Amino acid sequence: MLPLIMAQRESVVESARVRIAEVGPRDGLQNEPQIIPTADKVRLIAHLARTGVDEIEVSSFVSPRWVPQLSDAAEVFAAAAEFKPAGLVYSALVPNEQGMRAALDVNAARGARIVDKVAVFTAASETFSQKNTNATIAESVARFGAVVRAARGAALAVRGYVSCVVACPFEGPIAPPAVADVVRRLIDLGVDEIDLGETIGAGTRANVARLLDEIAAVLRDDWRAVTLHLHDTHGRAAECAQLAFERGIRSFDGAVAGLGGCPYASTPQRRAPGNIATDVLVTALRQAGGEVRVELERLAEAAAVARALCAIQ
Ligand code: HMG
Ligand code: MG
Repeated sequence: MLPLIMAQRESVVESARVRIAEVGPRDGLQNEPQIIPTADKVRLIAHLARTGVDEIEVSSFVSPRWVPQLSDAAEVFAAAAEFKPAGLVYSALVPNEQGMRAALDVNAARGARIVDKVAVFTAASETFSQKNTNATIAESVARFGAVVRAARGAALAVRGYVSCVVACPFEGPIAPPAVADVVRRLIDLGVDEIDLGETIGAGTRANVARLLDEIAAVLRDDWRAVTLHLHDTHGRAAECAQLAFERGIRSFDGAVAGLGGCPYASTPQRRAPGNIATDVLVTALRQAGGEVRVELERLAEAAAVARALCAIQ
C-alpha cells in the first residue's frame, strides 16, 4: 500500500519532522478574481522556493474554461525550473489524462523532471464533485486510473485529494464513513499520498478527531502517507493541525499569506480567510512539538509579495 511515499517518509514519521507543502500558488491564485500575470506568479514561487518548504503546488493542468486563473501552468513550470533547488518537490493538480499529458509535456520539453508529483482530486460529497469536476465521485476516480498509470510510467508521485472531509458547502456535514470510503478507493487505485481536504474551514478538534478515528481503520493507524489540507475560514485550522500532529500526521498544506479565501464564505464586505497561512501552520506545529524546516523570515518576504499581488492586508 502506498509504497513510494512510505519509503520517502520512513524517517519522517519516526521523528517529529513535519513536511510542509505550500499550496498558495495553486489553491490561492485559482481563487483570485483577477488573473495574476505569469511573471508575478513566478516571482512568488521564487520567493517560496527559498523558504525551506518541502513542496510547492505550482499550478494546475485543468480546463482553462473552468479555472482561467491557472491557464499558464506550463509557462509557470518552465520558468520555475530555472531556480528549483535540489530536493524541493514541484507538484500540479491534474484531473484527467489530458492534464497528465500536459504535465508530462513540461518535463519532456525541459528534458528533466520539473513536475515531480501530480495531484488527482475528488470529494466525499457528490454535489461538490459534480460542481468541481463535472463528474460523480465514481466517475472522477475512474478517470484517475489512466493518470496513475502514466505517473508510474514516468516515475512521478501521485497525491490523491479528498475534498469536503468535514463538511461540504452544498450538502453540509459529511459523515466520516463517506470520507473513509473515498480514501479506500484512492488507496486501491494506487495513489502514494492521501490529502484530506477540509475545504470550507468547518473543522474543530472534535470533528477532525472523529474523522481520523474513522480513517485510522482504513490505514491501520499508519499515517505516513497522509497529508492534511486545512482551510481557515473560522480561525480553527491551527488547533486542528495540532490535533492531527498529536495523532501522528506529519504532512500539512499551507498557503502563503493565507491565500485562497473560500468563495462560499466571502461577502462583498469581507474576504474570508483562505487556506491556513503557512506561517501560522508552522508556528502551531512547532508549538505542538513538530520539527519544521521552514524559515519564517523568508516566508514573511514571500507573504509580502503575495499580499501585494492579491491586494490583501
Ligand atoms: P468537462 O467540461 O466535463 O471536460 O470538465 P470535458 O472533458 O468535457 O472537456 C471540455 C473542455 O475542457 C474541452 O475543451 C477539453 O479539451 C478541455 P473544448 O474542446 O471545449 O475547447 N479540457 C482540458 N483542458 C486543459 N486541461 C485539461 C482539460 N480537460 C478537459 N486537463 C474537468 C471536466 C475535470 C476538465 C473540469 O471540470 C476541470 O478542469 N475542473 C477543475 C476544477 C478545479 O481545478 N477546481 C479547483 C481545484 S480542487 C480544490 O481546490 C480543492 C482542494 O484544494 C482540496 C480542498 O480544499 O478540499 C484540492
Ligand atoms: Mg483547498
